Amino acid sequence: MKTITGIISDKLSAAFSDCGYDGKYGVAGISNRPDLCQFQCNGCMAAAKEYKKAPLAIAQEIVQKLSGDTFFSKAEACPPGFINISLSDAVLAGYAADMARSERLGFEPGHTGRTAVVDYGGANVAKPLHVGHLRPAIIGESVKRIEKYDGYETIGDAHLGDWGLPIGLIITEMAARNPELPYFDPEYTGEYPDKCPVSISDLEEIYPTASARSKEDEEYRSRARTAVVDLQKGRRGYIALWKQIMDISKADLRKNYDNLNVHFELWNGESDADALIMPMIEEMKKKGITRISEGALVVDVKEDTDKKEMPPCILLKSDGAAIYASTDLATLVDRENRFHPDKVIYVVDKRQGLHFEQVFRTSRKAGIVRDETELIFLGNGTINDKNGSPFKTRDGGVMRLEALIGDVVDKVLEKMSDRDMTGEEKNRIARIVGLAALKYGDLSNQATKDYNFDIDRFTSFEGNTGPYILYTMVRIRSILEKCGMSEFEKLTGCDCDFKNVTPFEEGWLEGLCKDREISESERKLLLSLTSFSSALRYAADELAPHRLCSFIYELSDCFNGFYHDNRIVTEEKDSLKKAWIALILLVYEALGIVLYLLGIVVPERM
Ligand code: ARG
Repeated sequence: MKTITGIISDKLSAAFSDCGYDGKYGVAGISNRPDLCQFQCNGCMAAAKEYKKAPLAIAQEIVQKLSGDTFFSKAEACPPGFINISLSDAVLAGYAADMARSERLGFEPGHTGRTAVVDYGGANVAKPLHVGHLRPAIIGESVKRIEKYDGYETIGDAHLGDWGLPIGLIITEMAARNPELPYFDPEYTGEYPDKCPVSISDLEEIYPTASARSKEDEEYRSRARTAVVDLQKGRRGYIALWKQIMDISKADLRKNYDNLNVHFELWNGESDADALIMPMIEEMKKKGITRISEGALVVDVKEDTDKKEMPPCILLKSDGAAIYASTDLATLVDRENRFHPDKVIYVVDKRQGLHFEQVFRTSRKAGIVRDETELIFLGNGTINDKNGSPFKTRDGGVMRLEALIGDVVDKVLEKMSDRDMTGEEKNRIARIVGLAALKYGDLSNQATKDYNFDIDRFTSFEGNTGPYILYTMVRIRSILEKCGMSEFEKLTGCDCDFKNVTPFEEGWLEGLCKDREISESERKLLLSLTSFSSALRYAADELAPHRLCSFIYELSDCFNGFYHDNRIVTEEKDSLKKAWIALILLVYEALGIVLYLLGIVVPERM
């Protein structure tokens, strides 16, 4: 199905052409002044320049042309040259009925048959997840789901940091504590113990201790660096220990990501690209794009048009060690070999922007990706506390993700204290609602902007929050149950296979404006529903989950206005009751699909 603005634009373009103007000026969008009209076209301003006429005169001609078309309930020319448009109620209801009949509520996937890799975990092995990992995980998961809805075959990669200094630090600290373990004896040739000598909670203590020590102790730091080099060269004992640490750490990370409802198709790490680095560098040397700079092997990536400084991309440091950039480049080689992606999206802290620019330019220069492959860096902003300062624990430490989630869930539990539920059910639901609060609070902000984490606002059951949207769905559910509509269970929204067939019969929805005037709150709700495809198109093209949040917030608000004005369950006129049921089923479905795309789970009650 065409987007609603697309249909209006087509009609306007035809009118522009009929009046002798270029049809391109007929683009319509959602109105900035919903008090005056539903849609607007600003094309007359630009047309006025080309045709050297007053914009208002052109607008009047177009409006004249549209008069008599029952598609519109209003088409007005307004100074200085806007065209204000509203649609007839029957058109709105008809569009909504078409949505109900269509797959994906009429949203047309734009990229079927293409492949996108989304790189969005970035957690470091042996270090617990902290607040900084929250945004890439939830934005990345949502972007991946949106891209999939838009037709891409998607592959989410955790791209774990499993090969760098943190591992060297852990090895060094463990060797200092238990030098007798066979992993540290270079002469040892026997079998290593089959169990990792440390647990995940040991690691959580070992890493920070080692990291702090390395900052004070030069000699210790250099031992840790040597350990990394030895590990990467394949020292037997280190590899054995590293594998065991990897296993327990990965299992723990998986549990944490699962809890967030974030799921990766690939659990690759930086180490997986290691074997590809040297052959890749050899190719680059052959191509003649590398040079030696102060002992390091680099690729120049500066371009004449650069406004900012663009240092060369370092492939090998002067000691011959590969680094972060070489790993990311080799990972691209691997992705190209295995998936031939049309698009690679990185959701990583925006402070890594320079690194990715260097990597992207080098990969183009080296021909690692095809010219048409899109490389996109979606740099996320930082989460600050309520007052805009960096997020810390009370004693100034780094805030663990689990602790943050715990705080949010506790807050929700407080609000649900009067609910008639068993303790177990309440805990389960509070966790679902808490995660929704956390995710929605994050996703409703533009990904690239920093935002302040305000636990009271995020967990509120009113306003632009996750709990408010969930509450709306739960409310619709309860109305449907009261109307005997168990059919809504069939709706696919929440575990989307995208093939929705909304369970009401042909003609129900059209009953909304048969032999009656529809009310303002019904009209608003219909209008809000019809922007489903436009919102999704924008979110997919711009990688903008926040656009989906504003869509469902508005839709929920419109629903609640409608609910306030009408008594659905007790309505006596059968055709009207059916029309309302059809309408709210559609709202339920739209909310469910979008929440799924945001990675948010809906409880059955709350
Ligand atoms: N592990 C990295 C860090 O903590 C983030 C990885 C991001 N992804 C990438 N392909 N470089 O900074």
